[in-house]
Amino acid sequence: MMSPLGAATSMLLLLLVSGRSLSAPRSFSIDYQNDCFRKDGERFRYISGSIHYNRIPRVYWKDRLLKMYMAGLNAIQTYIPWNYHEDSPGQYNFSGDRDLIHFLQLAQDVGLLVILRPGPYICAEWDMGGLPAWLLRNKDIVLRSSNPDYIAAVDQWMGKLLPMIKPYLYQNGGPIITVQVENEYGSYFACDYNYLRHLTKLFRSHLGQEVVLFTTDGAGLGYLKCGSIEGLYATVDFGPGANITAAFGAQRYAEPRGPLVNSEFYTGWLDNWGSPHASVSPEAVTKTLNEMLAKGANVNMYMFIGGTNFAYWNGANGPYKPQPTSYDYDAPLTEAGDLTKKYFAIQSVIKMYHKIPVGPVPPTTPKYAYGSVEMKKLQTISEALDKLSMSGPVRSKDPLTFTELKQNFGFVLYRTTLPVNCSKPTPLSSPLNGIHDRAYVSVDGVAAGILERSKVIAINVTGKAGSQLDILVENLGRINYGKEINDFKGIVSALNLATVPLTNWTMYSLSIDEAVSEGLLGAREATHRAPPQPVALSPPTFYGGSFIIPDGIPDLPQDTYIQLPKWRKGQIWINGFNLGRYWPSRGPQVTLFVPANVLSTAAPNNVTVLELEGAPCSSGPCTVEFTTDPILNGPVHGDHTRRRIPFAKEDLL
Ligand SMILES: *[C@@H]1O[C@H](CO)[C@@H](O)[C@H](O)[C@H]1NC(C)=O
Ligand SMILES: *[C@@H]1O[C@H](CO)[C@@H](O)[C@H](O)[C@H]1NC(C)=O
Ligand SMILES: *[C@@H]1O[C@H](CO)[C@@H](O)[C@H](O)[C@H]1NC(C)=O
Ligand SMILES: *[C@@H]1O[C@H](CO)[C@@H](O)[C@H](O)[C@H]1NC(C)=O
Ligand SMILES: *[C@@H]1O[C@H](CO)[C@@H](O)[C@H](O)[C@H]1NC(C)=O
Ligand SMILES: *[C@@H]1O[C@H](CO)[C@@H](O)[C@H](O)[C@H]1NC(C)=O
Repeated sequence: MMSPLGAATSMLLLLLVSGRSLSAPRSFSIDYQNDCFRKDGERFRYISGSIHYNRIPRVYWKDRLLKMYMAGLNAIQTYIPWNYHEDSPGQYNFSGDRDLIHFLQLAQDVGLLVILRPGPYICAEWDMGGLPAWLLRNKDIVLRSSNPDYIAAVDQWMGKLLPMIKPYLYQNGGPIITVQVENEYGSYFACDYNYLRHLTKLFRSHLGQEVVLFTTDGAGLGYLKCGSIEGLYATVDFGPGANITAAFGAQRYAEPRGPLVNSEFYTGWLDNWGSPHASVSPEAVTKTLNEMLAKGANVNMYMFIGGTNFAYWNGANGPYKPQPTSYDYDAPLTEAGDLTKKYFAIQSVIKMYHKIPVGPVPPTTPKYAYGSVEMKKLQTISEALDKLSMSGPVRSKDPLTFTELKQNFGFVLYRTTLPVNCSKPTPLSSPLNGIHDRAYVSVDGVAAGILERSKVIAINVTGKAGSQLDILVENLGRINYGKEINDFKGIVSALNLATVPLTNWTMYSLSIDEAVSEGLLGAREATHRAPPQPVALSPPTFYGGSFIIPDGIPDLPQDTYIQLPKWRKGQIWINGFNLGRYWPSRGPQVTLFVPANVLSTAAPNNVTVLELEGAPCSSGPCTVEFTTDPILNGPVHGDHTRRRIPFAKEDLL
């Protein structure tokens, strides 16, 4: 309870605050003379952290923001992924987990300012760097350039988005202090200044003249050359161990005066399937952080919490290497929002420069091990085809891409017949590496092998003329960085049998997510129509199981992790929520984060697995297991032995 005196004081405070805001309006600007930002006229420096609302369930936004606030941050930075909000042209979604405005409001309520990065391109290890795949309906589109089709789409999108943002700018009473235009544009081949000029005008026309617009590029003159332009404040990004004198020297090349800003100080690094889990020591992070803060620089830590690439949202690096489901990033808050040593190490460095809030840090959320769940075979993809292909098949002489089939994510089944007798093993090959990205091949319902982009471009098949050839193609995530971002999916070039291209395709766009959430795959027993499978490989098959959350234990449901021992590769849903891809046979990620909000205490929880290569069910226990501890650094089985150089943009080319 507040004492009457306390109430009087806070009333006075309120009067003072509103009194000041009447005489001196809120302002945020760059002071070039004194090399700093100014907020309401006062010298201001931000210490910020990146959090992507699109990688965290809405119910946890506040918890993560509070933890960031309690670490001593005064700002957060977020991207806005265009493709997350405009699934098909003109169809916008800003509700539920996509409620950007609610996120901005929460940040402000918690006491955090916002550095906003609305793209249009964002990189972010997010599918296609946030660009919508439907842009590729123009096959020749030059993304991130003055290409008219691209510009028209950008204008439409920004015409929707930026007016929503405007009331949330700092000077309009909201939390947004600065807005980034494009993203590391200097790393892109196009170097199209007219494009940057167009974006500058577009942002200004919607947001006004006052807001600070900025760019971010690698800390090297080569990047700043094409990335920075008159009218946008140039900032740089670099990680622990950098020579900060040299790095900020690069920023000074583009901006002789103004605040020093590292817009992406890497607290960890991204992962790829088949490469070891990234890990960066707290000491390395705090050493460079301390140096930057001592120099008076503004810093955003990328990431402060990474979160999860739920469903199909992960991106990929080129030459093709997709990123896993977890975006833990070895950040100071884990994928599940847990506090780490790195969190407290960063907090103690910040404490040396800024006053940090007093009071307890919100605790790590408890995890619960629901135990193991017995899984039962439901149906193969081919058996369930009538339920999965809601739009019906499309026929064409040559195979069509996902874009041509108007499908963004997931899986397409390509079907044809063997035109000739293949009594001896006959190569089925994609000479132009056109399987994007992984194809599960079967002949008359019997698994025949797997083709994989940049890894396996040919397998042998056998079968009689007229045998049914089924090729389930998985989109493993679009390239999000570099010049290969026009990343078409499906069978994108000729697939040959011996030397002759296969024709007469029937293609099924699969609405697996809808079928799973509507329970269409049911608990039907397998038909056993197909002959016994070789243990090595089975055709893609759904499995289902369920579990009840025990009564009498308080505070359930709680978060958990799921692992799939001896399962190989696939996709997993709980109660229709798509948790993402699992691939323990490739590594390093072994467990998937299951947020409590997808679980139910009112009904049995339904687990659906699409296993693409072969479930352990024929040879032993056929279970999935819930545990309390994440495993993100499991053994890896990649054949790329290229050594990773952390924090170097070249590493991602
Ligand atoms: C919009 O997105 C939310 C959150 O992902 C989802 O629950 C909802 O179904 C979507 N709405 C439409 C119309 O697709
Ligand atoms: C850091 O960079 C500056 C400027 O390029 C250079 O003078 C200095 O020697 C470098 N320091 C180290 C330790 O390499
Ligand atoms: C395939 O082989 C069978 C005999 O096994 C033969 O009857 C048939 O004509 C052959 N078909 C083609 C297209 O070669
Ligand atoms: C296909 O079979 C031929 C003949 O048996 C063999 O030489 C070749 O190595 C096989 N190719 C593949 C990709 O397995
Ligand atoms: C094309 O495929 C359809 C069904 O998949 C089949 O009925 C038809 O005979 C095939 N046509 C040719 C020319 O192979
Ligand atoms: C799981 O599926 C069963 C059977 O369709 C259904 O009754 C139940 O409500 C589902 N559970 C949840 C949490 O949706």
